Amino acid sequence: MAEIVILDGMAAAGELAADAILAIVAAKPDAVLGLATGSTPLAVYRALAAREADLSRVRGFALDEYVGLPEGHPESYRSVITRDVVEPLGLDPALVRVPGHDGPIQTAGDDYERAIRAAGGVDLQILGIGTDGHIGFNEPGSSFESLTRVKTLTQQTRNDNARFFDSIDEVPVNCITQGLGTIRRARHLVLLAFGAGKAEAIAAAVEGPVTASAPGSAIQLHPHVTVLVDEAAASAL
Ligand code: GLP
Repeated sequence: MAEIVILDGMAAAGELAADAILAIVAAKPDAVLGLATGSTPLAVYRALAAREADLSRVRGFALDEYVGLPEGHPESYRSVITRDVVEPLGLDPALVRVPGHDGPIQTAGDDYERAIRAAGGVDLQILGIGTDGHIGFNEPGSSFESLTRVKTLTQQTRNDNARFFDSIDEVPVNCITQGLGTIRRARHLVLLAFGAGKAEAIAAAVEGPVTASAPGSAIQLHPHVTVLVDEAAASAL
């Protein structure tokens, strides 16, 4: 059973997640963090940046990335991770990987899995959740055993993410994402969600049936999960 904490807003959730991360880093300065993009985890990165801890040895693996954007595109997750995480937190960019950027895309999934294993696995994985229940870019129907691979985005996710682009046509069709099996191997999952738009996805993840149609329900198979939500995101629990 996941530990569910209902908080008074994003900032409070960010502080709690920052506490958990800094506790790991205090014991293991080269801790391995699983980094998520999207608007939700920004609260965590802001809280962490404000603590001014030495995170220069922390290693990071991003959850996912678009496939097909030009290198350096401001909305590529590599750019977002650099802007929102690496720079404000003082991480070493050489220690932070984003899938799909090292070598041919055909072998990028296997290469990424190998790199995570070589790092000793992810100590704490930060997760957001899509309105359709996706985690990373694992859309409904993804296998609970899946590993990092190239996928096609659903129309709903493309619509949701169109706000970051000038038009829906610019939103990539493909992505590369850690699989649900990859995510489940992280030692601690911290799932955050805010707002009424996430209420159904959170209810399905936390207490719905464990089913591939609700990718977030994979968290129920994990022994150490913390869910940080506001009242609105908890309203369907
Ligand atoms: C994006 C990302 C996910 C993220 C989700 C929710 O598509 N690939 O990793 O968790 O959608 O995003 P947001 O936090 O902006 O609602």
